[in-house]
Amino acid sequence: MYDDDIASVMVTEDQVREKIAEIAAKVAEDYRDSCGTGGPQTDLVLIGVLKGAVMFMTDFARALPIPTQLEFMAVSSYGSSTSSSGVVRILKDLDRDIAGRHVLVVEDIIDSGLTLSWLMNNLDARRPASLEVVTLLRKPDAVKVEVPVRYVGFDIPNEFVVGYGLDYAERYRDLPYIGTLSPTVYA
Ligand code: PRP
Ligand code: MN
Ligand code: MG
Repeated sequence: MYDDDIASVMVTEDQVREKIAEIAAKVAEDYRDSCGTGGPQTDLVLIGVLKGAVMFMTDFARALPIPTQLEFMAVSSYGSSTSSSGVVRILKDLDRDIAGRHVLVVEDIIDSGLTLSWLMNNLDARRPASLEVVTLLRKPDAVKVEVPVRYVGFDIPNEFVVGYGLDYAERYRDLPYIGTLSPTVYA
């Protein structure tokens, strides 16, 4: 599938699975005392950022050995499909109040950091008990705004990547691995 479109595999399906298990163990350890021990309202709230984080969110939630509640926000940056502009719009907001809750934002990738920076300010204003971020991928060389990120899967070079939730013009999200796109696709 998409064979001619993918130039190289950057993170394999196995590497994704192993990294998720590793992060899940850390997160479970970190939240063991604060979450899930005092009823449903103490469950950790995962906020997946649609659409890119969907694959990571669902695999991550299933790898976590502590109870979580799943929420989604759809935010999208205006501008071209391969770079962010920093102008963010909410397409879908949370279904529930997160005041007093332990919240972990789940992202597929931090590129410029503009989406996440805006989102963290927005969520922080809702007064959660704690607010942290887990991202599967991060591009240190592309960052424009520093956002403190508690859990990072892979730091990757500043190349355009697709798969495992990440798209180019809405395609390739369904690939089970993360790869670079062949230049012929842009042409
Ligand atoms: C992508 C990606 C991150 C964001 C990262 O989402 O999933 O959410 O861009 O870029 P940044 O750090 O430069 O802000 P996109 O806006 O393409 O929407 P999508 O998740 O629906 O693909
Ligand atoms: Mn996204
Ligand atoms: Mg996208």
